[in-house]
Amino acid sequence: MSRHSDQTIASLRLGAQLAQSYLQQIHSRHVAPKPEALTELRALDCELPMNPTAPTETLSLLDRAGNPATVATTGGRFFGLVVGGSLPATVGSRVLNAAWDQLATTQDTSPVALQLERTSARWLLELLRLPARSSVGYVTGTTMGNFTCLAAARQRQLHKLDWDVEQHGLFGAPPLRIVASEEIHVTVTKVVSMLGLGKRNIISVETDSNGAMRLDKLPQLGPDCIVLTQAGNVNSGAIDPIGAIAERAHSADAWVHVDGAFGLWARVSPDHNGLTQGIEMADSWVTDAHKWLNTPYDCGVAICRHPSAVHSAMSTVAPYFTADTDVAPKDMVPELSRSARAMDVWAALHSLGTIGVQDLIKTGCRHAKLAAQGLQSMGFEILNDVILNQVVVSSPTQPHRLNELAESVRRSGEAWFGVTHWKQRDAFRLSFSSWATTDDDVARLLAAIRHAAQELELI
Ligand SMILES: Cc1ncc(COP(=O)(O)O)c(C=O)c1O
Repeated sequence: MSRHSDQTIASLRLGAQLAQSYLQQIHSRHVAPKPEALTELRALDCELPMNPTAPTETLSLLDRAGNPATVATTGGRFFGLVVGGSLPATVGSRVLNAAWDQLATTQDTSPVALQLERTSARWLLELLRLPARSSVGYVTGTTMGNFTCLAAARQRQLHKLDWDVEQHGLFGAPPLRIVASEEIHVTVTKVVSMLGLGKRNIISVETDSNGAMRLDKLPQLGPDCIVLTQAGNVNSGAIDPIGAIAERAHSADAWVHVDGAFGLWARVSPDHNGLTQGIEMADSWVTDAHKWLNTPYDCGVAICRHPSAVHSAMSTVAPYFTADTDVAPKDMVPELSRSARAMDVWAALHSLGTIGVQDLIKTGCRHAKLAAQGLQSMGFEILNDVILNQVVVSSPTQPHRLNELAESVRRSGEAWFGVTHWKQRDAFRLSFSSWATTDDDVARLLAAIRHAAQELELI
């Protein structure tokens, strides 16, 4: 055995051992790191060693100083932002992925990466019931998924106006109108500016009390329009009436994009798919695997009904790449070199099966309802219609003190959630997105909130 493989195997063994003990105590540890753990991080901030260090020594230091300062997002009691954990099969697939270190660029660089991309693309389109011929690109997350799809939208809509944006850029181009829900996620707005479309050119459409776009407020649309909708408002979980919007948009030759970072997964649950009726009529969709599908970071999926538009926007041609008969991943996403991200999606879907994915979504929604009922009975006010996995909570008497409440719960180590602002109200927000969350975790969350609220005299 070569010295190289000796070291790699010793490192792999130690890594697996350290990861195992981390995951074995994830349910008993503080969700937020203790203050002393932050001080210990100084050990990582050493001088760059002049000489090599044994890989196992490097790993030991990483674990000793780094592990206590992790936030237990992969445990069952992290309810902040919209964060999933890592399914068992995906923790293993990530290790294999590192060992294989595949370049998911072309068929030549990694036949297995391409097979996994193609198969998981087919599975995703079946599960999400989206058009079978759509392109599916694997990106770092919904932000880059939105970038990919909106670059395609920009290409196609400008092409309809006789403008080749890839060749001529936006200088002198006919203006596009970006029609978006007033509740669109901040990262979509960022993408609008990254693509040179201009945040100030967004025509904002009013939403209803739950944050879904109001159809009656949609402006007159045309081929100069890209309509930005969402499935799953980051606060309330609201889903825009996308089928009806798409009908209006398509009769005017406009493009409809869906930011479904987490809400697109409602499609897979028979109990919730009524919420997403007609969503398949849109032109492009984005979702995160690292949110509700519970793959490790970072993995988003950009899906588009018009593969040729994505290809025009993303193709990377060089004489040292052989031309594949099928379009290569390098020509469908912004990155050239990237990991075999689809491996985690494949592992998640294969290990869960259709029933497992449905249960995952149904359980998150059930936990959200359970938490909302518990909080209401404590005297809190639920500000949203709890249709998915998100709960927005306020205090009828002391809303300005909810940050203190969130901090107190974090200090207790029992749970983690953050505050937000919803429809002009101060609130805190809970998201139930992790496969690891049990009914007992929800009970512990509620007990921690009750305890902190009593201490702060909020209830
Ligand atoms: C609705 C929505 N869109 C976009 C994003 C951004 O996703 P990412 O952080 O994966 O880029 C999020 C993240 O929470 C989201 O909830």
